[in-house]
Amino acid sequence: MPRPNHPYADAAVLPDGDVIDPRAIVGGGDAPVELEIGPGRGGFILERLEAVPEARMIGLEVRLKWASIVDDRIKARGFGDRGRVFAEDARRALPRLTAQTVSAVFIHFPDPWWKKRHQKRLVASSHLLSDVVRLLVPGGELFFQSDVEERAEQFEALVSDVAQLAPAGDASGSARLADNPYSARSPRERRAIADGLPVVRLRYRKVPAP
Ligand SMILES: C[S@@+](CC[C@H](N)C(=O)[O-])C[C@H]1O[C@@H](n2cnc3c(N)ncnc32)[C@H](O)[C@@H]1O
Repeated sequence: MPRPNHPYADAAVLPDGDVIDPRAIVGGGDAPVELEIGPGRGGFILERLEAVPEARMIGLEVRLKWASIVDDRIKARGFGDRGRVFAEDARRALPRLTAQTVSAVFIHFPDPWWKKRHQKRLVASSHLLSDVVRLLVPGGELFFQSDVEERAEQFEALVSDVAQLAPAGDASGSARLADNPYSARSPRERRAIADGLPVVRLRYRKVPAP
């Protein structure tokens, strides 16, 4: 939705259209890209672009200010050809992206709201998971982390209803991972570690439909 008086009204948004191939936005070619939902201050996307030279990433951040600042930082660090952050509500943006073009979806520390009236703002929902399944290539990964055990349990319960997302954690049959294997950490993750808070990390892999 256009917000002309907003100081970051010029934050980049996805190209127009109902069918957008994310691969075309960050380098082109057939190789799938990675998506981060709600990158906030952007530590994860920046660190991963730096650590993994073949990574091509798109962040969808609903806050115009941070979408704009992080997109500029990515460009300033010289990664603008393979990394972008767009000012988008992921719930509206994901349905516009081409199926089977994404190798990994990252959701780090989403949804800090607890009150019932905030339920409609929650990003982690069964609708979102349907889009994630549609976007992932076979074998593609969904990674979620939170320092709120109850949030993680809610997410595990949501994913347990999705037949095409199989747990891919450390132990067989579990989605839980002891550490983050992606060579990059999100700002909230760094804060949780500094504060000594336990972090629940969950990984799933897209498998064929039963
Ligand atoms: C608690 S912050 C965590 C930020 C970052 N992922 C981290 O771990 O440091 C949640 C982030 O998700 C963003 N967000 C919430 N709902 C969103 C949505 N529907 N689409 C895109 N971003 C969203 C918020 O603006 C915020 O930046």
